[in-house]
Amino acid sequence: MGTINSRYKSYCYIENLSQFVGSEVTLRGWVYHKTGKGKLHFIQLRDGTGIVQCVVFKPNVSEEVFERAKSLTQESSLILKGYVREDPRSPVGIEIDVSDLQVIQLTNDYPITPKEHGDSFLMEHRHLWLRSSKQHAIIRVRSAVIKAIRDFFDGNGFKQVDSPILTPNACEGTTTLFETKYFDLGSAYLSQSGQLYAEASAMAHGKVYTFGPTFRAELSKTRKHLTEFWMVEPEMAFFDLDDDMDLAEDLVEYIVQYVLKHCKKELEILERDITKLEKVRRPFYRMTYTEAVDWLNRNNVPIIRKVDGKEIEEPFPWGEDFGAVQEEAIMEQFDKPCIIHRYPAKVKAFYMKRDPQNPELVLAMDMLAPERGGEIIGGSQREDDYNALLERIKEENLPLEAFQWYLDLRKYGSVPHSGFGLGIERTVKWITGARHIREVIPFPRMIYRIYP
Ligand code: 4AD
Ligand code: MG
Repeated sequence: MGTINSRYKSYCYIENLSQFVGSEVTLRGWVYHKTGKGKLHFIQLRDGTGIVQCVVFKPNVSEEVFERAKSLTQESSLILKGYVREDPRSPVGIEIDVSDLQVIQLTNDYPITPKEHGDSFLMEHRHLWLRSSKQHAIIRVRSAVIKAIRDFFDGNGFKQVDSPILTPNACEGTTTLFETKYFDLGSAYLSQSGQLYAEASAMAHGKVYTFGPTFRAELSKTRKHLTEFWMVEPEMAFFDLDDDMDLAEDLVEYIVQYVLKHCKKELEILERDITKLEKVRRPFYRMTYTEAVDWLNRNNVPIIRKVDGKEIEEPFPWGEDFGAVQEEAIMEQFDKPCIIHRYPAKVKAFYMKRDPQNPELVLAMDMLAPERGGEIIGGSQREDDYNALLERIKEENLPLEAFQWYLDLRKYGSVPHSGFGLGIERTVKWITGARHIREVIPFPRMIYRIYP
């Protein structure tokens, strides 16, 4: 193809330096850190792909260049030339002997210094905090997780068919909807999930996945909730719940093994215990909701309720949804993820298929991650019977007009089908061991934060 100017193709990046040992290269980047004494300045240069120590030795450079190096401050931007030298003491095995250096901008008073800063200060400076090495490593793992997901689905015969973000109806309950005015057509809602549209696409393409941002006006101020998060949602015609669970296990195993293979450096920076991740191999654990409730009660994990302002503990009642306390208690015994399946219909969404063995249950499944990762996947076999679905829509007082198209899917060649949604941030939080979900998305949106 007629690329006129592809100068950038010859640019050298820190991650490729080992190919250039013995030669002179040009590096472009920012000062991560600088120290110096007498005739030497040590610049920790970062360029987005890594950090390398660049040594400015007075006899090797002009007076002017040495003075420039001396003036450099944290996060100043620069272009430098230097010789690539192997150095076993360096964490990347390489050092640069600087021969020339040009300052692009001298930075004054960079707010994030090597000293400790409070969480709210860092979040207020998220646009700069992204440059710090742990945050940088987390976002690289995130990128790898997304790559793994795409490879997995594309390699297994799935087509990516995206769902709309502006929608006329709710998918996951009406209490967490973001509403916006939509011209003369009334209200539109930011999508809570691409699933309903993915179902239509699955009837056209067989196996599909949607991948995009999803929105929940969640009132939860936890370490696991965002109001805007990314979800990948496969949907498969002719898959039942067992097929769905098998696929979920395959996907999560693939993601974790991919990250272990491709993000060694990042996991090291994050001080992640990778022996825990190495265990994430199929088969995972599985139990039914009812077995999980029995386990909680056998192990005296109560539910805590507030009655008249006082907290009281009770045995866990069959029929309630699990909270973080129950999920974490159940997962403490496991060294890899566990799928809990067949939940009470009343705690789950309207579109899930009733269990033919027990009409109180739906063919739902949640995958919980170990190490307090929480729920990373929620999925189900879908109700494929027209009348049963119509009944559920009415029971939930959902606006029938908005779901007419969805009911159509049960009218024209309805088939058993299933799917699930994997939360990208929950998954990255678990894999990286990040303390809080806000650190695993570049610009988190939470009830109390929309800046920057
Ligand atoms: O369990 P959820 O609500 O399921 C659905 O939305 C289905 N429609 C998916 C499907 O079957 N296609 O959400 C799926 C996943 C959760 O398991 C969790 O990983 C993530 O999305 N998630 C959140 N992540 C961050 N912040 C929140 N507020 C989240 N809510 C759900
Ligand atoms: Mg869920």
